[in-house]
Amino acid sequence: MRKVVLGRTNVKVSAISLGTWAYGGANTVGKFSVGWAGQSDEDSRKALLSAWQHGINHWDTADVYGEGRSETIIGNMWDKVPRKDIFLATKVGWDRGPHSHWYDPKHMLHNLDRSLNNLKTDCVDLVYLHHCNFGKNGEYFDGALEVIRKFKDQGKTRFIGLSDWSSDNILKYIERCDPDVIQPYRNVMDDNYIESGLSSYVNINNIGVCFFSPLKHGLLTGKYDKPTSFESGDHRSGIKDFASQTIVHKMKQNKALLDQRFANHSNPTMHGIVDALFNGVSSGCVLLGQRNTRQVEVAASLGNLMSEEDSSWVMSLYKPQNLQ
Ligand SMILES: NC(=O)c1ccc[n+]([C@@H]2O[C@H](COP(=O)([O-])OP(=O)(O)OC[C@H]3O[C@@H](n4cnc5c(N)ncnc54)[C@H](OP(=O)(O)O)[C@@H]3O)[C@@H](O)[C@H]2O)c1
Repeated sequence: MRKVVLGRTNVKVSAISLGTWAYGGANTVGKFSVGWAGQSDEDSRKALLSAWQHGINHWDTADVYGEGRSETIIGNMWDKVPRKDIFLATKVGWDRGPHSHWYDPKHMLHNLDRSLNNLKTDCVDLVYLHHCNFGKNGEYFDGALEVIRKFKDQGKTRFIGLSDWSSDNILKYIERCDPDVIQPYRNVMDDNYIESGLSSYVNINNIGVCFFSPLKHGLLTGKYDKPTSFESGDHRSGIKDFASQTIVHKMKQNKALLDQRFANHSNPTMHGIVDALFNGVSSGCVLLGQRNTRQVEVAASLGNLMSEEDSSWVMSLYKPQNLQ
C-alpha cells in the first residue's frame, strides 16, 4: 500500500485509508436514517485485522457511528493490532445531546472523553469538528474550537481537523480553525473540492486532506442493476441517486468503460473511480468504507497514481452533462 504524508502532520498514512461508519450498523436520529443496515461486528473485526495486515494504517471513526459501536469495536482490537501502528481519527459534533444547537462545549467534552474510553486509548491521533454548522452567525464556532484545542493541549489528541459535506463550508472556517487536516466529501461524481478553491488553500498551507465517500456509498461501483431502496436506519434510503433509473444505468455504462480502459488492473472499476481522485493531491488520502475482508482486499489493490490523462478521462465520465 502506497503511503502519503498527511500534510503538516508529517505522518505517513495509507493512500487508501479505512472508513468505519458502517461498523456502527443501522441507526436513526428522530425520523432520519443515519447508519448502515446489515453490518455484523464479526465482519467489522475481521476487516480491521485484514486492513492492518494490508498496511491500511489510518482508521476513521466518529462518536456517532452507531452511538459508539464503531469506536468500541476498534477499541477492542488492540490485543491483535498494536495501537501504535494505527493513525486513529474520530470526530465530535453530530450528537447535540439535550441542547438545541450542536457544539455545546460541556457536551462536546463529555463525548470526547467517551470516545477515548470507547477507543481504549489515552490519546487519539486526530479529532475533527464533524461539520461546520456553527449556528446562524457562526456563534458556536469559537467555543467548539476552544474545546478541541484544549483537548490537544491536554495531550488527548495529536492533531485537530475540520470536516463538512460542503467544501464551501470548510473554506468559510478554515482560516480561523487552522486545522492540521480537513475531511471533505469528494468523489468523481460530486466534486466541488477543486472549483471551490479548497484544494488551492490546502496545497498552499500544506494541510492534510482525507476525502470521504469516494464510492458515493457504493453507488459508483456500478454494481446495482436497478434502482435500489434501503431499510430504515440505512442512510442510503435518503440518497436519491440510488433510486434513479437514469443514474443507476449510467453507473453501469461507466463501469463497462472503466473495465475496458483499465483492463490490466485487478479491480478496474475501483481503480478508475478511486485512484482518479489522487491527481494533483500531494498531502492526502482517500477514506474508503470497507465492510468486510473482501472489500479490504480490493482496497489493498488501490491507491496508486494514474496518468493525468486517465484521471481527466474518468472525471469527465461523471460530469453532470454526461449523466443525463
Ligand atoms: N466527515 C463526514 O461527515 C463523513 C461523512 C461520510 C463518511 N465519512 C467517512 O468516510 C468513510 C467512507 O465513506 P462512506 O462510508 O460514505 O462510503 P464509500 O467509501 O463511498 O462507500 C463504501 C461502501 O461501498 C461499498 N463497497 C466498498 N468496497 C466495495 C467493493 N470493493 N465493491 C463493491 N462495493 C464496495 C460498501 O457498501 P455495501 O457493501 O453495502 O455496498 C461500503 O460500505 C466513512 O466510513 C467515514 O469514515 C465521513
